[in-house]
Amino acid sequence: MSGKVILQARDLDIRFGGVVAASDINIDLIEHQNLAIIGPNGAGKTTFLNLCTGYLKPHAGRIIFNGEDITGIAPRRLVRKGVARAFQIPQLFTEHTVMENLLIAAAAQARQWAPFTRLDRIGARAEMEHLLELMKCGHLATLPVSALPEGQRKLIDIAVALALKPRLLFMDEPTSGVASAEKFELLDIIAGALAEARVTAVFVEHDMGIVDRFADEVAVWNRGKVLFRGPPGDVLKHPDVIRDVIGEEL
Ligand SMILES: Nc1ncnc2c1ncn2[C@@H]1O[C@H](COP(=O)(O)OP(=O)(O)O)[C@@H](O)[C@H]1O
Ligand SMILES: [Mg+2]
Repeated sequence: MSGKVILQARDLDIRFGGVVAASDINIDLIEHQNLAIIGPNGAGKTTFLNLCTGYLKPHAGRIIFNGEDITGIAPRRLVRKGVARAFQIPQLFTEHTVMENLLIAAAAQARQWAPFTRLDRIGARAEMEHLLELMKCGHLATLPVSALPEGQRKLIDIAVALALKPRLLFMDEPTSGVASAEKFELLDIIAGALAEARVTAVFVEHDMGIVDRFADEVAVWNRGKVLFRGPPGDVLKHPDVIRDVIGEEL
């Protein structure tokens, strides 16, 4: 494993009542290496994403992004620093069109947006058209998000995240709710767009076929701890991982 460290998690702890959701988490994320996070339900995977993206503040420990301590910084401010998140359940303005959703995100990033801002005054349209092309969604620009099937909504959710111009993007189960036959195509599109935009991705994923194909590295979570981390070819073959994680998924 080589490359520039883009994010360091150091000694992260968080508890909810008696539940230990993060315990002494220490992990480095490497720029341009996509990391898959796997682990059983309740392992603390989403909690780690929440900690890194400002939705939760750790009880102990620090998160360093690009050399700066970002522990406890609110999500909106983190986005401006280059850390974004796509949601397990896409959070879009469903009555607005796809293009309007992108323009709102672009304007928020440029601090131009306020309620009643006229979207046609926002200068990012050409850039957003290019982004939609990257996501193979150019033909959806004028449709309301509410009219889209789940797979396309997920692509638009990622496009909105990319409109925020992140360097690091966290995705929680990007293929959940999508038919198996469509998952690879969906991830192919996402991975292509992330590579083109030079965004480093961290994604939680339950489908080991997807992990094997799209992750450069895999980290295994259990009971709030990182048990293993390495290339998919090694980690997915480890007997403990097969017994505790992969076996459970099958
Ligand atoms: N905001 C919260 N309040 C209380 N308990 C939580 C909260 N977030 C997560 N937990 C608990 O922490 C543990 C880890 O949850 P989570 O990070 O969602 O796991 P995963 O994403 O791996 O399934 C679970 O036991 C969950 O119930
Ligand atoms: Mg989760």
